[in-house]
Amino acid sequence: MPTAVIVGGQFGDCGKGKIVDYYAKDADIVVRFQGGSNAGHTVVVGDETFKFHLIPSGVIQNKRVIIGNGVVVDLEVLNKEIETLKSKGKNVDLLISDRANIVLPFHKTLDGIEETFRGKSEVGTTRRGIGPTYTDKVARSGLRVIDILDDDVLNQKLDELIPIKQRILRDVFQSKETVSKGNILSYCLKYREKIKDYVGDASLEIDQAIKQKKKILFEGAQGTLLDIDHGTYPYVTSSNPVAGGACIGAGIGPKKIDTVIGVLKGYITRVGAGPLPTELKDHTGDRIREKGKEFGTTTGRPRRCGWFDGVILRYAVRVNSLDGLAITKLDVLGGLEKVKICTAYKFNGKILNEFPASLKVLERCEPVYEELDGWPDFTEEEEWKKIAKKRYVDLPKELKIYLERIEKIAGIPIYLISVGPERESTICLKKIF
Ligand code: GDP
Ligand code: IMO
Ligand code: MG
Repeated sequence: MPTAVIVGGQFGDCGKGKIVDYYAKDADIVVRFQGGSNAGHTVVVGDETFKFHLIPSGVIQNKRVIIGNGVVVDLEVLNKEIETLKSKGKNVDLLISDRANIVLPFHKTLDGIEETFRGKSEVGTTRRGIGPTYTDKVARSGLRVIDILDDDVLNQKLDELIPIKQRILRDVFQSKETVSKGNILSYCLKYREKIKDYVGDASLEIDQAIKQKKKILFEGAQGTLLDIDHGTYPYVTSSNPVAGGACIGAGIGPKKIDTVIGVLKGYITRVGAGPLPTELKDHTGDRIREKGKEFGTTTGRPRRCGWFDGVILRYAVRVNSLDGLAITKLDVLGGLEKVKICTAYKFNGKILNEFPASLKVLERCEPVYEELDGWPDFTEEEEWKKIAKKRYVDLPKELKIYLERIEKIAGIPIYLISVGPERESTICLKKIF
């Protein structure tokens, strides 16, 4: 079956957008299955840079793109993305699942207020309303795309939802924000007109496409360690970015997934709060941040940077059933005399080989490092592009040793290497279609 899931193996922002764009050239359909506009996926093609929050990155390759039921859709952001793409002359061949939940303006208000109330324990969310929208979904009071297409259903749902939200804002949080039915109704009606022609049964279309042997890519958002179940809870997002999330969020069964690829940077970053065992709070961390332009696509916040974490890698291989790896941003580490890989954690004098559930333990884990020789710094991006045109065997030998060590720790092969933001700065070792 020509279906492949591409997921983040760390804390997000590992270059999923670029990798999906690369593999999408051979695909027929690209599907987003979870998350919302908290995601920021960057694709660089020639002189143009695209930043996607909701629309699957495959749209640039002129593919059919689908927003699955597992995504929480901010209609305003989605509409802006559609308009921007159209203004750039791109064809938007989009299907939005009728079962996807909608982010409403008060979800964003609540996201901000809840964060403020958490005080020192704030998660550092993107304040895009993700948590409050998934909360309503699980509480069975969310608004789905299908609901806004029917006046009666929309009115009835808003009549149930709005008084509760108003009371929560006013009586629980003592907020002066008001939630008016009139405003929410006109918001829904405005965007209904913009999106209604794209709405349909995504699971049905994907199933039919699989039966027709079409090639389908599933594009994950965030990353394994931000997963609500498998991540560093509570410093996580509110969905399941792991590969299993593709089944739930696209409406297909696990037997329909052929290949799973994990995308990881050659180092690690995290934006927002929560433990990061290999974090570098020194000039090496600053150097990686500057050279890797490690500032959030969605919020512009500086990303925390650290050495590559092999414990997290092994965990990601396990909880996603990864078949292969895509290792990105290797150019960023160029020029460092020595590079380090964390192979285990040390806790209370004992070696931990597995990623712990307890944050109290994780926060006290010390990384056990292996030091390897660094590879040359190619200051000109052009030079990396030239290197990417060569074969893997022509890469600097220190870089190959680094990659082989990663493969050994993972127990699975590397499928793709990325040495720059552009499409050309890619060495593909294994095609998936
Ligand atoms: P995503 O959320 O996983 O899609 O990743 P982001 O787009 O948030 O962040 C990755 C950033 O790194 C983007 O600005 C990409 O253009 C850039 N990028 C991707 N791959 C590479 C690479 O191999 N080298 C460099 N220098 N930048 C890269
Ligand atoms: P992409 O798809 C990196 C982080 C936030 C915060 C936590 C919860 O671009 O990799 P949320 O707004 O989801 O409730 O925030 O998750 N976060 C991301 N970090 N990349 C992302 O997406 C992220 N989406 C959410 O910073 O720590
Ligand atoms: Mg991102």
